[in-house]
Amino acid sequence: MSDWVKRDGDAIWHPFTPLRGMDEPIVIEKAEGVNLYTSAGGRIIDAISSWWVNIHGHSHPHLADAISKQANALEHVIFAGFTHKPAIELAERLLEILPDNQSKIFYSDNGSTAVEVAIKMAFQYFYNQGIERKKIIAIDGAYHGDTFGAMSVGERGPFTDPFDPYLFNVEFLDFPSPEKEEEVWQRFQTLIAEGEVASFIFEPIIQGASGMRIYSKSLLDKMIKLAQANDVICIADEVMTGFGRTGGLFASDLLASNPDIFCLSKGLTGGALAMGVTSCTDKIQEAYRSNDLMKTFFHGHSFTGNPMTCAVANASLDLLLTKECEENRARINNRHRAFEQDLIGQDLVRNTRVLGTIIAFELNTERDTSYFNEARHHLYPYFIDKGILIRPLGNVIYLIPPYVISDEDLDFIYRTILNFLNEYPSLIKNQEL
Ligand SMILES: Cc1ncc(COP(=O)(O)O)c(C=O)c1O
Repeated sequence: MSDWVKRDGDAIWHPFTPLRGMDEPIVIEKAEGVNLYTSAGGRIIDAISSWWVNIHGHSHPHLADAISKQANALEHVIFAGFTHKPAIELAERLLEILPDNQSKIFYSDNGSTAVEVAIKMAFQYFYNQGIERKKIIAIDGAYHGDTFGAMSVGERGPFTDPFDPYLFNVEFLDFPSPEKEEEVWQRFQTLIAEGEVASFIFEPIIQGASGMRIYSKSLLDKMIKLAQANDVICIADEVMTGFGRTGGLFASDLLASNPDIFCLSKGLTGGALAMGVTSCTDKIQEAYRSNDLMKTFFHGHSFTGNPMTCAVANASLDLLLTKECEENRARINNRHRAFEQDLIGQDLVRNTRVLGTIIAFELNTERDTSYFNEARHHLYPYFIDKGILIRPLGNVIYLIPPYVISDEDLDFIYRTILNFLNEYPSLIKNQEL
């Protein structure tokens, strides 16, 4: 064990990591493009964009410059009563690329807080008008973050069990898999007809943490339409899907109807600094435009609108909106779709799916397929050994690479996955997995 690993173990509590029984963390010295370089001299391809945040590759000079310039000019200023150019420019540019109905940007710090803001904004929209609407609809399997509001509207299970008594009630719809679509639609109509629903929150078209599960966009469209006709606020959590992940700029671009609120984070800053954004329509703001101070949206964080974060988000948009970036996303999609054909014939593979720059499939094992299954904890080191960072979700293996990944690196990852599938039966037999 290196001295750094020991010091890490003595001092740091890592996210989603048990305090006992986990492998030692890998010390990363530097990173460039899709490559993470370890202190031991190894190279690891970041095939999951470091928890889905990195879109232009690591340590991108354009992003690094933007942070450095801004740090030397104005590193931070309180965002109540003050403003600055990077925040104004960023808000204008986001509104430019979001659907036309979006008209204001509220800054926060990460994906969970972007969701927290959205939920509060929606509840207070009704409160300010003196309307009693207490219900919120969400979808089974959803992941919206780890703060209490975000946990409340997410999948309940082992991750949330200790907090269950403190989470607010939510009407959960079954995940709308093809065989459940009609049932989900019926239940949704019944809930809306009761007239007590304030908002409907969803990850548009693809659920991330539940295993990159894709569902019907036409059903989602129908639901949004019905909800909006009944003044129910539709919240699109695009924390994972935003900024090109699903091909276009936002997953909601694939819908005919525009959600009322958007939650953004992850790719927003190119993955360089933490930031959350919640955007909303003019109609929502109307409920807050009042001389009554008590109708103010009393929410904010110390680092709201941090200038360095805004500057790097602006720099990330410069890169995102280039033809080159669009072509890279299309290239990755083509490569994924070709690789999907190689996967489809494999005995050990089921339910392959590709959306934009994301490819996922399920390992057809007889074993427990939950997040906590044994295989998951062995798959990860298998790929790390080969120099690839992949973090399976239960029995779901997925890739969500930075858009700058080369064809050679993609081929290497695909080949390694196919090798793994070939070796898997003997690995199981020899108890190596
Ligand atoms: C759809 C979605 N919403 C919200 C979050 C929470 O974001 P954060 O981890 O930045 O709080 C995530 C994180 O994975 C996510 O995938």
